[in-house]
Amino acid sequence: MKLESLKSQFPVFQHRPSLVYADNASTTQKPRQVIAAVSDFYEFGSANVHRGLYKLSEEATVHYENVRAKVAAWIGSNNERSIAFTKGTTESINAVAFGFLLPILKEGDEVVITAMEHHANLIPWQQVCNQSKAILKVIPVDENGELVLDSLPEMISPKTKMIAVTDVSNTLGTINPVKDIIRLAHGHNIPVLVDAAQRVSHYPIRVEELQADFLVFSAHKMFGPMGVGVLYVREEYQDRIKPLNYGGGAIKNVEYSHTEFMDYPRNLEAGTPHVSGVLGLGAAIDFMKQLEMDQVAAHVENLGNRLREGLRDQHFRVIGNARKKTGIVSFVHGAIHPHDIAGYLASHDVAVRAGHHCTQPLLHGLGIAATVRASFSVYNTTQDVDNILKALRGVKKFWS
Ligand code: ALA
Repeated sequence: MKLESLKSQFPVFQHRPSLVYADNASTTQKPRQVIAAVSDFYEFGSANVHRGLYKLSEEATVHYENVRAKVAAWIGSNNERSIAFTKGTTESINAVAFGFLLPILKEGDEVVITAMEHHANLIPWQQVCNQSKAILKVIPVDENGELVLDSLPEMISPKTKMIAVTDVSNTLGTINPVKDIIRLAHGHNIPVLVDAAQRVSHYPIRVEELQADFLVFSAHKMFGPMGVGVLYVREEYQDRIKPLNYGGGAIKNVEYSHTEFMDYPRNLEAGTPHVSGVLGLGAAIDFMKQLEMDQVAAHVENLGNRLREGLRDQHFRVIGNARKKTGIVSFVHGAIHPHDIAGYLASHDVAVRAGHHCTQPLLHGLGIAATVRASFSVYNTTQDVDNILKALRGVKKFWS
């Protein structure tokens, strides 16, 4: 499959031929088959899952559960029951922080995160620590945007109850040595949550090999619909996670005085689930199955490196120079505000994100308030990168 021809599978690029979409770390565009999976569910008859005895409902249930199996296989889990559907990465992390950790966290316990976490993988841990008087510890990041892992052995102790780490930084593009962190954590019986939101569309995930205890991601960053996410929980922890939401569809028996709940993962899926979204996620995985993930990884890395090189030639400062990084490129200019740069690019039909990228403490630590961030995906081309660089030449003239 030639990646540079993939744009034809994404209707947005036919509707907006001049669009250079480089905000894929925020969300990806959707291929035709994902849009069809969502609309077919409504076009050909929608019914609730796990509830009806008629054909339409039974079919919806089968298709919904098939996606659970498809997601498990896609991330290398040999058990489809390890997968719960959530609203997204944020809800998945909250489910672990409040449903698993908070009930066991005591005063003086410790939770370790990194200095490059998205707010979604920071605030839930901060809040459970605040509620239980536990301590949040942060693995520092060096000036290149790499984790200072030498500090980790000293940071963990018998009081450490959880380590939460992003696989790929949404701001710096750094690819973290998550496997090493998990190995070290497991040597001390500490569970690890991996935020794979920025990894899932560019690199394969082998969750059993990785030995992650919890792994989370969103459908919309991997060509699927918004409003659906995945929580993977390793078998050992599945009966230790309490629901965030209570209601129908997740119970075995209800009396006025008490309720007997279903087992994980169904106990976490109370209420009518986002069935069309889950079916769209299944179609997104089908779309990705036609790609060679090694080729995808190399493609986005090459696009990122091409942009970094061009930015340096134009005297922009690239933020994040880790040895291993993906096609997420943050940059600043000494004299022009990131929002002005992004606004100018937008006027040339180039979509990038500007701001703190939901990583305020990271940027504070680096002494900057905001960056411009371009982030690439499978359908981006070298021409897209060159168009961004061409538009940036105009930015400097415009603001000089
Ligand atoms: N997490 C998304 C981003 O980095 C929204 O832009």
